[in-house]
Amino acid sequence: MANPKTKPAGVLPASWYSTPAIYELERRAIFAKHWLLITHELRLAAAGAYAKFTVAGYHFFIVRDKQGELNAFLNVCRHRAFPVVLRDEGVANILACKYHGWSYGLTGKLAKAPRFDTVDGFDKSDYGLFPIHLRVDRRGFVWVTLDAAQEPEVKWEEFFDSVDTQGRLQAFDMKNYRYDHSWDMDGEYNWKTLIDNYNECYHCSVAHPGIAKVTNLESYDVKTTNGFIEHYAESKGEPADAAGNVAPTFLFPNASITMTDRYFYIMRVVPVSESRVSMQYEVYRHADCTDQDFEDLDKFFKQVEAEDKYLCTNAQKNLNAGGYVTGPLHPHREKGVLHFKSLIKRLLVEHGNQEKILGREITPVNRSPDNTDIVEEELFCKDVCSRAGEDYAW
Ligand code: FES
Ligand SMILES: [Fe+2]
Repeated sequence: MANPKTKPAGVLPASWYSTPAIYELERRAIFAKHWLLITHELRLAAAGAYAKFTVAGYHFFIVRDKQGELNAFLNVCRHRAFPVVLRDEGVANILACKYHGWSYGLTGKLAKAPRFDTVDGFDKSDYGLFPIHLRVDRRGFVWVTLDAAQEPEVKWEEFFDSVDTQGRLQAFDMKNYRYDHSWDMDGEYNWKTLIDNYNECYHCSVAHPGIAKVTNLESYDVKTTNGFIEHYAESKGEPADAAGNVAPTFLFPNASITMTDRYFYIMRVVPVSESRVSMQYEVYRHADCTDQDFEDLDKFFKQVEAEDKYLCTNAQKNLNAGGYVTGPLHPHREKGVLHFKSLIKRLLVEHGNQEKILGREITPVNRSPDNTDIVEEELFCKDVCSRAGEDYAW
């Protein structure tokens, strides 16, 4: 009989892919705390250019100010919480809230709060938009962390140092690309189901005939480094076939960049709940890319994404159903899945333990209230919540 110690490590249990409480912990421990790859600065080239985003229920936007700097803010008016930015993208001089008409400059300062000028104790400078930490890496990719602390607890370098100096990326000169379009697709599965799928090509020979045709699947490999996973896919040798000559990188927790010499795209796997995702794609085009090449590449990648959606949708049905708990991961072919699993497990356990010690949830995105009534009212709400689980025997 085989020694149980030699059994290969398994994938995370099905409960981690289907439990609302795990998803809520991920929102606090990962999405509200860690650096997230969001877009490329090429998308926001002009002064006033903005784009809005949602990640795990947190709404924010990025805007270029008149000095040329990119700023990110929570997409919430400081008055009564209406979103300040409503369109997915655009160009603006001023950010006006469509509820009561407060307006903000591109650096987030509150410019106007109609009729509030006579209100005692009201100071406009107290009510600028909530800023979010933003970083542009050496290849122009834009990252944010929603951690509200002055100094974010997680350092970008700890997870991503050297992601933007990968030797293989030097062949792609970012100046030669232009933002082309965004598109998205909804999925009925946990966000990690797709991230696991993305981080191995063990399924490619079975499920992606298009990839199998242009890529040497025997030599397909991944290199794991802290928060990122480089995928190495050798072309079968058709130099004209750019889809077979790609440099994809996964960026923890939920994004990837796929570079080719004529086209690149960003994928963000945006969790909506424990069982739903929105897969969001931004497509950029190289100046030398012909219409035909662009169309072929676009079609190729969209086909691959649709095939992965089919795999995830059907695997998730069984993750939700019960019966299956875990299965073995191939130590080499599914090395990227193992790496992702170890990051998820470590971060959730660490954050969960910190919460246990403090006896409360830690939600790094939350801003502290600046008003004593609110503190009292919040405590009342917590008290009600803690009693909600009690069994009232009348
Ligand atoms: S919520 Fe924005 S002005 Fe009132
Ligand atoms: Fe796939």
